[in-house]
Amino acid sequence: MPRVSTSKLTAVLSAGALAFAAAYAYRVYKRRDEPSAEEQAALKDNAQLFKGKELKLLQQLLQLDQRHLFDNWKPPGEEDAEKARLVEQLQQLDQTYPGGLAAYVSNAKRLLADSKAGANPFEGYTPSVPQGENLDFGSAEFQELEREGVKAASNAAFVLVAGGLGERLGFSGIKLALPADTARGACFLQVYIESILALQKSSGASSPLPLAIMTSDDTHALTEQLLEEHSHFGMQPDQVTLLKQAKVACLSDTDAHLALDPKDGFKLQTKPHGHGDVHALLHGSGLLSKWQQQGVRWVAFFQDTNGLVFRAIPAALGVSAQQNLDVNSIAVPRAAKEAIGGIARLTHSSGRAMTINVEYNQLDPLLRATGHPDGDVADSSGFSPYPGNINQLILKVDSYAGDAGPHPGPHSGDFPRELPDDAKVGFTSINQVWGQQYSPVRNSPEDARAKHKSGTRTL
Ligand code: UTP
Repeated sequence: MPRVSTSKLTAVLSAGALAFAAAYAYRVYKRRDEPSAEEQAALKDNAQLFKGKELKLLQQLLQLDQRHLFDNWKPPGEEDAEKARLVEQLQQLDQTYPGGLAAYVSNAKRLLADSKAGANPFEGYTPSVPQGENLDFGSAEFQELEREGVKAASNAAFVLVAGGLGERLGFSGIKLALPADTARGACFLQVYIESILALQKSSGASSPLPLAIMTSDDTHALTEQLLEEHSHFGMQPDQVTLLKQAKVACLSDTDAHLALDPKDGFKLQTKPHGHGDVHALLHGSGLLSKWQQQGVRWVAFFQDTNGLVFRAIPAALGVSAQQNLDVNSIAVPRAAKEAIGGIARLTHSSGRAMTINVEYNQLDPLLRATGHPDGDVADSSGFSPYPGNINQLILKVDSYAGDAGPHPGPHSGDFPRELPDDAKVGFTSINQVWGQQYSPVRNSPEDARAKHKSGTRTL
């Protein structure tokens, strides 16, 4: 009998063990990949039409209580192309959301459950008034800061978030094309571009100040058309960059069920995700690092129908430059307990601190729970010391483009959450004296009239 050396035997045994392990792992893998009887039933016996990633995605969705998506599926062989169309859309949505559709549905479920339970996301935090400037429009201090800001504008870039649907307004066109001034009939986009060109000139900038516009499927083509029809309102075509945000699936209820199109049972309803996408787009497209290399120091973010925002941007830029702020939120004076978010510094019992927007219905209870029995009350100025957030920001490029990375949340103003504790985050609140500095076109005339009658802001 031939002798087999111990080392050879060990080698043969290990090879056998390996082969066995591989076969076992494959079977387990196969088994995990194969749909269970319950999954087959939910998919109306159509599982074999899909394999690999597609099938895995369908299984994930079933685990996330989305079986209603397949309720109207017929047996295999009937309407298979339609089923494939829905699965293709699901895959596309899976690829465009960080973490995929499963992460999207899980996040939505968690947020909806927290809101149903009335959970306070700021439990454990103590609010205090953040670093900031309260300025009266046109005051000597304002003018001084404005002069500083005009100088700083020579190294500024501008970002306009304009992907919103404008559902509340009920207007079929894009909001940027609405008239912003009645004397000339100039639209919002024209007023914005003219303001940037004026800053470009008065700051003595050595190169054109860049403008990025975030669009979505709902606004992209019309924004492009508006720019082209008006020769970019005087900007050089390559001065303007359009970045299109992806859409996310709509939810049909508070259990985060994905909503099928009522007119097409093989299509999900989708909508833009929120203006927070702008950070991921600026980082991911490489535009931000390009700007940084070109010497851009400040990025000013603003929204589609805020006709007065350029009255505030130069002074706010002045504050950013003077105080070297990483983040500067342009804010408005806010009456105590008024129903808009307030900017607050929140310090956790663990020592972690951040300056962010706190919704009014969270701010008042948080103050009451942390030693302020009357909650959000006015100070000697007659306003709450927590200024009103309007989601118009000025960010310092070096910190923004740094390690913090973009947060895929729905609000652009959530960005400071990502910053280290010692980041310099402040606000510039400008009292327009004669009226509201923040008066976007948001509601239909009927809704605005009703709001006005009830004494609330008509935003
Ligand atoms: P709004 O809060 O006014 O929302 O957006 P909206 O989507 O435009 O309008 P409704 O809610 O459907 O009535 C504030 C700003 O954020 C932009 C809007 O274009 C506007 O400048 N936005 C909003 C985006 O760029 N993307 C989005 O997904 C949502």
